[in-house]
Amino acid sequence: MDHKNLTDEQLIDWDRRFVWHPFTPMKSWMEKTDPVIIVRGQDEFLFDSRGRRYIDGVSSLWCNVHGHGIKKLDDAVRTQLNAVAHSTLLGLCNVPSIVLAKRLVDIAPPGLTRVFYSDDGSTAVEVACKMAFQYWRNAGQPERTRFIAFHDAYHGDTLGAVSLGGIPTFHQVYQPLCFPVDRVDSPRIADFAGLNAAVQETPPAQKTLDPAWLPQMESLLAAYPGQYVGIVVEPVIQGAGGMVMHPPGTLKRLREFADAHDLLLICDEVLTGFGRTGRMFACEHENITPDLMCLSKGLTAGYMPLGATLATDRIFASFYADPKLGKTFYHGHTFTGHPLACAVAIASLDLFAENRLLEHVATLAPVLWEQLKVLGDHRQVVDVRQTGLVAAIDIVRDRRTRERFPPHWRVGGALCAAMRRRGVLLRPLADTLVLMPPLAIGVESLVHLARAVVESVQLVEEVIRHCEENII
Ligand SMILES: Cc1ncc(COP(=O)(O)O)c(C=O)c1O
Repeated sequence: MDHKNLTDEQLIDWDRRFVWHPFTPMKSWMEKTDPVIIVRGQDEFLFDSRGRRYIDGVSSLWCNVHGHGIKKLDDAVRTQLNAVAHSTLLGLCNVPSIVLAKRLVDIAPPGLTRVFYSDDGSTAVEVACKMAFQYWRNAGQPERTRFIAFHDAYHGDTLGAVSLGGIPTFHQVYQPLCFPVDRVDSPRIADFAGLNAAVQETPPAQKTLDPAWLPQMESLLAAYPGQYVGIVVEPVIQGAGGMVMHPPGTLKRLREFADAHDLLLICDEVLTGFGRTGRMFACEHENITPDLMCLSKGLTAGYMPLGATLATDRIFASFYADPKLGKTFYHGHTFTGHPLACAVAIASLDLFAENRLLEHVATLAPVLWEQLKVLGDHRQVVDVRQTGLVAAIDIVRDRRTRERFPPHWRVGGALCAAMRRRGVLLRPLADTLVLMPPLAIGVESLVHLARAVVESVQLVEEVIRHCEENII
């Protein structure tokens, strides 16, 4: 069958009948959604089957970096395809995985010297989790089995990552399948005084860490002395938990705390890595080196699935032993270190340098803030925040009490549908609107994106009326 001749109606019918969409209440999808079928991409734009053009406002789920259809990246895949599409890393090497490992170690926070490949963000976290756990066994401390993680954390959907995750809607149902994790609150901002306090002229980088936060972790250590493997954190921005932005000082305090108590610090940079926060890695904001660092998403510029877990010499050395001692890391995936994905990741790193992409982000970030800050005065907005080219806007029913809308109204979803009509694709986190365009976005598109968001929020009352009438 020639798939090119399929009509939109046919495709939508097959989608409804055969595809189970991720993170999607399928009843609503089938009954209420007008699906958009993406057929092409160029730069920051995506095009649908009806010829409509959209700005990719969330970088195709937080991963696209240089835009779509980028010749240098396309060529890297084609060149590797002409050589070999895939060969295994179990017992063999391939050129792109070797070169990429060297390039990652060169740019990573100093001290991260080994690269273990996997398939995506979840598996990069899974690897870190198992490595950290086994590290203590290898080191003769098998009683260390507990992890510390954050409320509202998100580390992926495999079961180890789900154990670490702290978002009830996503994770609660699987608790009986999970290993024990002890939770602390997301780091708080000391000067946060409720209403309006978070809406300021400056992004959250100017705020300070609440000193009352750290004792939570101290009490956990007192309750389970000698039992912790380490702390797992999304540095600087907790993504899926609502784009929670940590005040400066948080990471440094975490590193000091981990050192003082001999805990491993695991930084999940799946979202924050590769320029999203304005630095290549979020850890650079506070000059810290974690013991393990998880990468994916922007690693391949959003072109292909690939995960990587970077480890220090200390971690690697604990596994480096005679095989009969049982210290080997028995973990790996069929597509580990996939040559096509590694080839595009190398080309992406070249483009970061050639296009001075981090400088471009530094220029664009204030432009985005300038457009969005007006929403700080809106009566249905309780917070506007931004780090690098990641921005978030919390929409609430009552700004004074911070009361939220009933989740089934899907106000965030309805606002994003309104933005779609303005040529912008966004995906909300409940009623938090998230902007995370490709880093290479042009200034005109960025302003268009921000204005579409501002205009849609200004129409929020109309949207709410529609939600009330149309409850799914
Ligand atoms: C911080 C973080 N870790 C892990 C993941 C999981 O990555 P993946 O969806 O590629 O498995 C995500 C995905 O959004 C993430 O934001």
